[in-house]
Amino acid sequence: MTGRLEGRLIGLGVTGSIAAYKAVELLRLLRAEGADVVAMLTPAATAFVGPLTFQALSRHAVETDVLALLPDGRIGHIVVADTVDAIVVAPATAHWLSAMASGLSGDVVTATALASSAPVVVAPAMDGDMWTHPATRDNVARLRDAFGYTIVEPAAGELASRQSGMGRLAELPAIVDAVVGAIGSRPVRAADATARPPMVEPVREADLTGRHIVVSAGGTREPIDPVRFIGNRSTGKMGVAIAEAALARGARVTLVAANLDVAPPSGASTVVVESAAEMRAALHKLTHADDGRAGFDALVMAAAVSDFRPSTTADRKLERGGSLTLELEATPDILAQIARIARGTDREGGVTYEPMSPSPFLVGFAAETGSLDRAADKLRRKSLDLLVANDVSEPGSGFGTDTNRVTILDAAGGRAELALMSKRAVADEILDRVARALDDRDAAAQTG
Ligand code: CTP
Repeated sequence: MTGRLEGRLIGLGVTGSIAAYKAVELLRLLRAEGADVVAMLTPAATAFVGPLTFQALSRHAVETDVLALLPDGRIGHIVVADTVDAIVVAPATAHWLSAMASGLSGDVVTATALASSAPVVVAPAMDGDMWTHPATRDNVARLRDAFGYTIVEPAAGELASRQSGMGRLAELPAIVDAVVGAIGSRPVRAADATARPPMVEPVREADLTGRHIVVSAGGTREPIDPVRFIGNRSTGKMGVAIAEAALARGARVTLVAANLDVAPPSGASTVVVESAAEMRAALHKLTHADDGRAGFDALVMAAAVSDFRPSTTADRKLERGGSLTLELEATPDILAQIARIARGTDREGGVTYEPMSPSPFLVGFAAETGSLDRAADKLRRKSLDLLVANDVSEPGSGFGTDTNRVTILDAAGGRAELALMSKRAVADEILDRVARALDDRDAAAQTG
């Protein structure tokens, strides 16, 4: 069942009321409805609940400071104001209602609401006498009538003062309903994740310590003559993201880099190659360790290897003539060859010699245009452990983008369709599976 806030971004403003702790549960309910939530806390709110709680649950850095910039230099609260589908302020104190009613944008919640054209839902919570005070009544009326904000009135019940009266924060499902109602059928404002406030990636443990991970990245170039080549649009961003993530998780990383547009991470040992033949040679060297085993624990083949190359390469630059016909030949399938070596199989799949032990974990990529139907077949045909398939014709996926939407297939028939996310987050999703599989492999070797 899809939630009522699927694909929406909600700005959750929390102000300094004792009910601030309830905003944590509200965040959870909004996410359960499918929303992406970014929290904004006034300084007083942070005295009641720590920003880290909201950050861990929302996976966004929490806005607490009007002057704070995002890591990429954008102004945090303006990005929130421009991308949210709704702002919900819960709990809203009497002080905040007053600041908002007069447009005093000293805190991040007021500033964001002022800067935004998104609908605003306000759920006040305060002492009963404060709620009935004419000042508060006027401020609430102004927010509702002049600003068009939705007010979710507080309920009667026991208050922090131990008195009973009006002022308890409304029930959380009623606040969620009000958010859904305020958005109505408006179109999603910022469907593109890169326009939204950035996600904070969860911290992974060093679960690849002691592992050697080989990553191929970039796109090969197949020479036509000393000047020209057949190439592809790969920039190497995905492979470099995998290398960086593997390093952060404690792995030793060798990056086989073909014509990268981005800098390789300094912690990796980088082997620079140009063509498919050079990439094959570099990877074969890494595959045959001196002790007869594979020289790595996992190979992640993110490079776009040319499937064809000119049958002959001219020694001298080809001169302009009438027309030119290039004869192309297929390049060897590097990954499939390494898989055959690792599994000890021949081209037909029969076991012809001793498989490598322990078996290296092999990850392939499949850039498809349109359907991913061929992906499962590719995984089987190449005898891989994991295949990461994406539709490069989809917006936000593919060459040169910072994001990717992938489907991860495994040898057991598992299939995970991931949401659009940063290439670094995709890298960690892949490495989660690599780390788990290598741990399982070791555990099986010990018991077996
Ligand atoms: N690959 C490789 N050597 C090649 C071609 C591809 O090692 N000569 C690897 C890629 O790095 C990728 C995987 O194989 O990890 C799948 O690449 P892709 O080009 O999608 O596969 P192909 O088998 O070439 O399939 P097709 O061209 O039919 O789509």
